[in-house]
Amino acid sequence: MHIPQKKLCQHLLDEMSMPAHIQAHSHLVCKVALLLTQGLLSAGVSVDIDLIQAAALLHDITKSRSFITGENHALTGGEYLSSLGYHEVGEIVRQHVVLDAYFSGDHPNEAEVVNYADKRVLHDRIVSLAERMDYIMYRYAKTHAHQQRFRQVRTLTETLEQRIFQYLVFPPDEVPLLLDSP
Ligand SMILES: [Fe+2]
Repeated sequence: MHIPQKKLCQHLLDEMSMPAHIQAHSHLVCKVALLLTQGLLSAGVSVDIDLIQAAALLHDITKSRSFITGENHALTGGEYLSSLGYHEVGEIVRQHVVLDAYFSGDHPNEAEVVNYADKRVLHDRIVSLAERMDYIMYRYAKTHAHQQRFRQVRTLTETLEQRIFQYLVFPPDEVPLLLDSP
């Protein structure tokens, strides 16, 4: 398995000319993801911390380009990383908006951690899941069908939050305090 280390991830972000605000978002998603990962590891849940770090840092790698092209940035970000040989990272990036399968294993996995961490960061601020999902609904759900799908994803993500936090010694609303972040 090829996983880019932090320095190489930063190089990839710079190479893509990722704007500062999306870089700030990506770094904060990574901090949240690593906090959750450390908690899961402490509880004996086996997850790959390097894989989570890389996927969290790179999850929006094609986002700024998507503003111009209209491309599905989760899909193209995943494809781009896969084309560089980072297949596992690409698979997680591809699923950072919506997971292929929710709760597929006995324990939370890397894709679930990154997907959830992204749902706790609005721009460069840690927020509740409810606030982030309200924003997503307002910003992206333009049709009735979209709204219905988002409601389903919201319910699944609420369950995902419970699934992750059952292993952690702190509740969801303590994440910003633990990271000393606004
Ligand atoms: Fe994204």
